[in-house]
Amino acid sequence: MRLLFIGDVVGRSGRAAVVEHVPLLRARWDLDFVIVNGENAAGGFGLTEAIFEEFLAIGVDAVTLGNHAFDQREALVFIERQPRLVRPANYPAGTPGRGATVISNGRGERLLIVNVLGRLFMDALDDPFATIERELGACPLHERCDAAVIDVHAEATSEKWALGHFADGRASLVVGTHTHVPSADHRILSGGTGFVTDVGMTGDYDSVIGMDKDEPLRRFTRRIPSGRFEPALGPATLCAVAVETGADGLAEAISPVRIGGLLESAAPAFWTKRTDDRPDNRL
Ligand SMILES: [Fe+2]
Ligand SMILES: [Fe+2]
Repeated sequence: MRLLFIGDVVGRSGRAAVVEHVPLLRARWDLDFVIVNGENAAGGFGLTEAIFEEFLAIGVDAVTLGNHAFDQREALVFIERQPRLVRPANYPAGTPGRGATVISNGRGERLLIVNVLGRLFMDALDDPFATIERELGACPLHERCDAAVIDVHAEATSEKWALGHFADGRASLVVGTHTHVPSADHRILSGGTGFVTDVGMTGDYDSVIGMDKDEPLRRFTRRIPSGRFEPALGPATLCAVAVETGADGLAEAISPVRIGGLLESAAPAFWTKRTDDRPDNRL
């Protein structure tokens, strides 16, 4: 299977990159599932139902969240009626929505998606390791799903690596989000799980992690807030990770994807062939 996970979409410029590129990438790479982290899609803070539905309409299969999951208060309501929207699984019991879900595509393939928040330098929540243990136990790879993606939304690189090793051999991909900075350590762990510490944001990199530079600089230099954080509006770099899984659901290849904006571009060399060149021509 071919999976594409797109990192934290920040504001209007991030959304424009998703809308422009996802339909093209879906066709060019014959993708089986496209997942987007949408926690910053609405003006940098949270997600609205209109934005979520636009993502689905242009070919996104599911959206994950993070610490900004409920910044838009309407998310507390609409998340209940959107099975393809996943919020962190280690929020307290009774939090609206779901922390894990299994979705199917037109080919009958089943994908488990889990979202967890780290605990280092972040709000105190339930243990993400125990949460992952529970969710993977409820939906074992190769038994109840054909691929499994875990979005580890966390600040600390150490915690993300540990969570990756914890799930190694039991998930197709453990992908870090939240820092908004792509790390260059994408690799397949010893047990066969694709991993990257952070996929990076999909937003304008002429910014402070997606936000217009002025207010962050004022707060860093004067310590006094003097305005709102607003997303930077320059052209976005779409940052993603591409994963090819084998028959066992584990990763066979992983590559960063960077398109547009200020960052150097990257694309998976293993998907350079067109759909009609594929030996099994699955459609
Ligand atoms: Fe984010
Ligand atoms: Fe975040």
